Amino acid sequence: MTENALTLVLGGTGKTGRRVVRRLTGRDEPVRIGSRAGGVPFDWEDQATWMPALRDVTAAYVSYYPDLAAPGAPERIGAFAALAVSAGVRRLVLLSGRGEEEARASEKELQASGADWTVLRCSWFAQNFSEDYLLDPVLAGQVVLPAGDVGEPFVDAEDIADVAVAALTGEGHAGRTYELTGPRLLTFADAVCEIAAATGRPVGYTQVPAADYAAALREHGVPLEVVDLLTYLFTTVLDGRNAVLGDGVQQVLGRPARDFTEYARDAAKAGAWNRKLA
Ligand SMILES: NC(=O)c1ccc[n+]([C@@H]2O[C@H](COP(=O)([O-])OP(=O)(O)OC[C@H]3O[C@@H](n4cnc5c(N)ncnc54)[C@H](OP(=O)(O)O)[C@@H]3O)[C@@H](O)[C@H]2O)c1
Repeated sequence: MTENALTLVLGGTGKTGRRVVRRLTGRDEPVRIGSRAGGVPFDWEDQATWMPALRDVTAAYVSYYPDLAAPGAPERIGAFAALAVSAGVRRLVLLSGRGEEEARASEKELQASGADWTVLRCSWFAQNFSEDYLLDPVLAGQVVLPAGDVGEPFVDAEDIADVAVAALTGEGHAGRTYELTGPRLLTFADAVCEIAAATGRPVGYTQVPAADYAAALREHGVPLEVVDLLTYLFTTVLDGRNAVLGDGVQQVLGRPARDFTEYARDAAKAGAWNRKLA
């Protein structure tokens, strides 16, 4: 972008954020990681941390934690976007979710901020299986979820980061909402099969009723709000509304989205599933 432009990457150590940071630093673009452990700490729960993180920033990648479907997200996104604009930020790129009514409210807050905004409406991340809550079940050899035969076009976080960097640094993305998905619909069982093939280890998939899934999470001490969020994501968002491909990766990058097979092969090669469960 412009010389000396500083980009704030919220969630800059997370699944998408750290890939955005890697790309920007690779291009010698000045970057500030926005997270609780960042050099200038940023905490969504503590508004006093927001302004110091925004100092001298001209563009920001906004990945919210824990999820835009969580209660209070639109209010926080709205307050953050307003503060960012008042601090001189001109460009805001929001990581959003596909088919989530709750996420729409946050998108609207961003759009009302007066910044040049871009929304990245993403399907389920492939990296949930290797870097998040589905990693341990894969390592245990059995993934148990309330997801049935609905197809989901899992998107690779590498593609999300490529698109985010284009929107943060390039022209022509202001006022645009991009639907980012992979190139193919897979059920969760298909995805687990792909991972088993890539690792050469047996990994099974079992579908359970949503109520049983929620009860098992509670038994394992998962906080109620996280249980509610996961149950919502695995039922409402997977009711078939998202079983279509989006073309955002092709639109922005001029190339097809990465396929799940490629993701599984690369993650296996990088040792994502080599660890043994304690
Ligand atoms: N996963 C999916 O399939 C999916 C699909 C569509 C959309 N999304 C959206 O993606 C977003 C999450 O993005 P992601 O998966 O790239 O991130 P992630 O891996 O879930 O995020 C972890 C990051 O958030 C930071 N963080 C945690 N608590 C924080 C807090 N209280 N304040 C500030 N930062 C905090 C962490 O750093 P510290 O620990 O240092 O704070 C870390 O940098 C959510 O808003 C979700 O709605 C997810």
